[in-house]
Amino acid sequence: MRRIKNHDERKEACLSRMLYVAKTDEDYREIVKRKELLDYKAIFGNDNPVELEIGCGKGRFVLELAKRNPDVNYLAVEVNSNVIIEACEAVMEENVPNIFFMRCGAELLEKYIPAGSIQRIYLNHSCPFPKNRYENRRLTNLKFMPIYSHCLVANGEIHQKTDNMHFFEYSIEQFSAYGAKLKNISLDLHNAGFEDNIITEYEAKFLRKNMPIYRLEAVFNHNT
Ligand SMILES: C[S@@+](CC[C@H](N)C(=O)[O-])C[C@H]1O[C@@H](n2cnc3c(N)ncnc32)[C@H](O)[C@@H]1O
Repeated sequence: MRRIKNHDERKEACLSRMLYVAKTDEDYREIVKRKELLDYKAIFGNDNPVELEIGCGKGRFVLELAKRNPDVNYLAVEVNSNVIIEACEAVMEENVPNIFFMRCGAELLEKYIPAGSIQRIYLNHSCPFPKNRYENRRLTNLKFMPIYSHCLVANGEIHQKTDNMHFFEYSIEQFSAYGAKLKNISLDLHNAGFEDNIITEYEAKFLRKNMPIYRLEAVFNHNT
């Protein structure tokens, strides 16, 4: 993957807002065992509830969400170094205090996130990885469910949006197989009278093509 212009300098300028994971070939299960649990009070300077976006891309969604909800803290997770820098720059430019970034894969969340500390997780237009051989990279694959369950408070929610019908069906199967309760399912979000929707970068692209956006909410209780 090509790096954005001046990648290293720009990354350096973002460090005060970002938690980095060193590149390593080590098995992620080994990395997860060495806990470095986040201290939210030290990071955000308050005890406000914390929500998580996984795969935040260039950060349009989380930036707007954080501006609308100044009493909620947001962690934005992203594996791609280029886009997370752009997201971080946008947040720093607007001086929005309640967002911090984590450059890591969702696979590593149990290393950082204290158990039962996240009120809500957002999965917006996650990569669908249509080929079966990459199924375990899909962010709604069953392998991620215990990780999400670890992070979430009891009855915490995952809010998912996607433009991909097959991925949406797959996600419904996976959430259900894990025992999460589904609610507010929409097969055409933008014609469903849903208020307060925040359009993400990818969502804007698909809307321009008149494609429907699928959305659901999955409730996790700790017995799932
Ligand atoms: C299709 S983009 C969507 C970006 C943004 N959420 C939006 O709606 O415009 C999916 C993003 O998820 C990130 N991603 C993919 N797998 C991930 C993982 N395991 N952990 C964290 N981020 C991931 C990708 O790098 C990419 O930026």
